[in-house]
Amino acid sequence: MTWTPNSWRSRPANHIPDDYPDLKALQDVEARLSQFPPLVFAGEVRNLKSDLAKVAAGNAFLLQGGDCAESFKEFSADNIRDTLRVLLQMAVVLTFAASKPIVKVGRLAGQFGKPRSSPVETIDGVTLPSYRGDNINGMDFTPSARVPDPQRLIHSYSQSASTLNLVRAFSKGGYADLANVHQWMLGFVDRSPLGAQYRETADKITDALNFMHACGVTSESVPQLAQVDMYTSHEALLLGYEEAMTRIDSTSGDWYDTSAHMLWIGHRTRQVDHAHVEFCRGVKNPIGMKCGPGLEADELLRIIETLNPDDEAGRITLIARFGADGVEAGLTPLARAVKASGRSVVWSCDPMHGNTLKTASGFKTRPVDRVLSEVRNFIDVLNNEGCTPGGVHFEMTGQDVTECIGGAQAISEDDLSSRYHTHCDPRLNGEQALELAFLIADKLIGLKESGKDTEDRLAG
Ligand code: TRP
Ligand code: MN
Repeated sequence: MTWTPNSWRSRPANHIPDDYPDLKALQDVEARLSQFPPLVFAGEVRNLKSDLAKVAAGNAFLLQGGDCAESFKEFSADNIRDTLRVLLQMAVVLTFAASKPIVKVGRLAGQFGKPRSSPVETIDGVTLPSYRGDNINGMDFTPSARVPDPQRLIHSYSQSASTLNLVRAFSKGGYADLANVHQWMLGFVDRSPLGAQYRETADKITDALNFMHACGVTSESVPQLAQVDMYTSHEALLLGYEEAMTRIDSTSGDWYDTSAHMLWIGHRTRQVDHAHVEFCRGVKNPIGMKCGPGLEADELLRIIETLNPDDEAGRITLIARFGADGVEAGLTPLARAVKASGRSVVWSCDPMHGNTLKTASGFKTRPVDRVLSEVRNFIDVLNNEGCTPGGVHFEMTGQDVTECIGGAQAISEDDLSSRYHTHCDPRLNGEQALELAFLIADKLIGLKESGKDTEDRLAG
């Protein structure tokens, strides 16, 4: 069946608001957006795809993280910088441990929309439409804030453009230089046990750099030392916006969604004959897909076939989110089926969304030990099945928030109220995110060594 940027419109579409009071205003906004400059370029998207192909082959590792949902209110240079600092710290720890390139993908510069489990919310007997993300309506619990407003799409585009501009400046303009490895530390992390552990790695990297410098290898002679490729991603939820940002690339003649390098399909919108899969099938970007409880192996294979009929490496990232206790039962049959099909995919682990709970005092939280345990189980299950654990996908912020319980600072249920700022799901703070990176680093070192053992055995 022929695909067009709007062929999704004839399919069932869940989680897209249909209560805009003025449809003509929405169409005008979408028409304007379709004339705006692209946020990312097709060549960059192709680079990400070839980086992800290396991940699929086991020669690189994917690090994808950022806010659950970006908001208009928390938009500031400091916020963006602090998120990047933590991503850089995690990347450096992992590069050092795995001795492999880390593919860095931010959940930012476009991650606004939220699928909600219920279309309405009731507080003290008052029922209003749910908050659906800053690109749709407002979070305030008032009737007027909850009305979908198409102008919010223009606002999201502009915030995404400014965010991406700063990301590009930080990643290419000197801030990401390995010589700054000590400077990425955030004050509150510096004072924690994770700070000391990070400094140890950073010292070793500084020693290695000094040695290489003496040998004539500097960031002038080798620009890779001073720059990173930081890609952007968000859930392709609001398809009207994605359609408006979709353009033909003049070099290849192919369609690209230029709102982000990578897009993913959520757990609630992945039905093979529905709108979100239909839209994603026709754009050339790398596509992620959340795999959680209830997804059957044959359904997964049909979705893979629909999204990637030519089995292009780097095109599909499967993001498992089963909860710490559900990984073995949930992931094993899927990993087996994909392996048996011979299809190339990246397996990534989202250890956040299957581990959310509500405390007695009503806070949505995630225990850090559950998060870490899901990553551990994910790596073990894939390893046992002869598949490659390729990456992680997580929600974090550089801010010193108290949203997830546990971690080295031992945030307790009572602490949650002190700095609970999220607009949606609880995020790891800078320190908890580093803890996650060190855990993955340990596991990857383990894999590297067991791989070496195997090589030695084969050689001997
Ligand atoms: N460019 C290399 C990379 O992205 C090395 C590098 C430079 C790096 N700055 C970094 C790695 C910051 C991790 C973090 O891997
Ligand atoms: Mn979330």
